Amino acid sequence: MTLSYQSGFANEFASEALAGVLPVGRNSPQKVPYGLYAEQLSGTAFTAPRHVNRRSWLYRLRPSAVHKPFEPLAHATFHNRFDEAPATPNQLRWDPRALPAAPTDFVDGLYTMAGNGGAAAQHGVGIHVYGANRSMENRFFYDADGELLIVPQQGRLSIATEFGVLELEPQEIALIPRGVRFRVELVDGVARGYVCENFGAMLRLPDLGPIGSNGLANARDFLTPVAAYEDREGDFELVAKFQGGLWRADIGHSPLDVVGWHGNYVPCKYDLRRFNTIGSISYDHPDPSIFTVLTSPSDTPGTANLDFVIFPPRWLVAEDTFRPPWFHRNIASEFMGLVHGVYDAKAGGFSPGGASLHNAMSGHGPDAASFDKATRADVSKPDHIVDTMAFMFETRAVIRPTAQALAASELQAHYYECWQGLKKTFDPAKP
Ligand SMILES: [Fe+2]
Repeated sequence: MTLSYQSGFANEFASEALAGVLPVGRNSPQKVPYGLYAEQLSGTAFTAPRHVNRRSWLYRLRPSAVHKPFEPLAHATFHNRFDEAPATPNQLRWDPRALPAAPTDFVDGLYTMAGNGGAAAQHGVGIHVYGANRSMENRFFYDADGELLIVPQQGRLSIATEFGVLELEPQEIALIPRGVRFRVELVDGVARGYVCENFGAMLRLPDLGPIGSNGLANARDFLTPVAAYEDREGDFELVAKFQGGLWRADIGHSPLDVVGWHGNYVPCKYDLRRFNTIGSISYDHPDPSIFTVLTSPSDTPGTANLDFVIFPPRWLVAEDTFRPPWFHRNIASEFMGLVHGVYDAKAGGFSPGGASLHNAMSGHGPDAASFDKATRADVSKPDHIVDTMAFMFETRAVIRPTAQALAASELQAHYYECWQGLKKTFDPAKP
């Protein structure tokens, strides 16, 4: 199915699945056309400054309040307990988790790797991976704790939301705002990927400064669904994530029953292959902030709660330069994943679906083999990095791995060895 989308990031969108659903000149008329209910969904405080204020109006078959009471729902692997284990300064890397054997949908298959902050504090992130082998059929989910940044690594997803349907494939991402109800169907039968749960300010496009009015992720490449409603009744389940835990409620109808909507608080998707990658055309690798797709600002200017950064295909042309990322220690903490191909700063061991974590002030950078290759490379010629898509969730606060991630069989005990081959080559007699 070829879906329609609306183009732009956080625009004032409007969409109706039946002509004339949207009231004209007001949001909440005495009677809504077609016998629908009007409901506002606010993603920022009512009084947030206009340029960051986000809300939408939904016109639906039933108000979202219509369901039975919630009760706690146990989940063995999806949580926000980031203080279970000591945060570690060690460099960590994980192999990909195997796809599940038992029937597992998107929500069942969430597995928390790490995080910081929390829903109550309204800052920080939860970093999760997912593996699934069946669609959510009669089950719907929303996350009251954070916005969800979904990064598929294997398998296409069809995400049916209150605002319409997003189809997503690896190398695309989706943003599902806090509170928006959705269902994930697996187009290819199995799926695996990453999810960043953002407890802080909503992700937005970074300022471009001297780059100018275009570049990095261009706003027009973000796609928001058109209204598509379900008029289904049955014994369904609504799962909520609330203050770190899961809850479930019986619901007698599909909550994806919005016939028309308008506003700027909306889900969207973006194809990472459309990123306008900017780099050095003279010398030196720039700071990787140049690769920021989206940023969640904190209360400190320039110091993000979360930056989502990618390492896409690109040309390296810098002269007299060590072209891979340099060795570094940062105040920020970096959780990396690989969607596709090979990451250019590591010769092996970092597989698609795997992950690495380098926390604040922990030294890291290219491994010995990559260093050796880059220092011998002919940098009078351009180098084309192709067939790759790595990403980073970078946060101002230390990223704390969960107890399950530290105990996982996928954790590579010998990761540190990738730097041990970097031998001393210092010779005071040879400048
Ligand atoms: Fe780094």
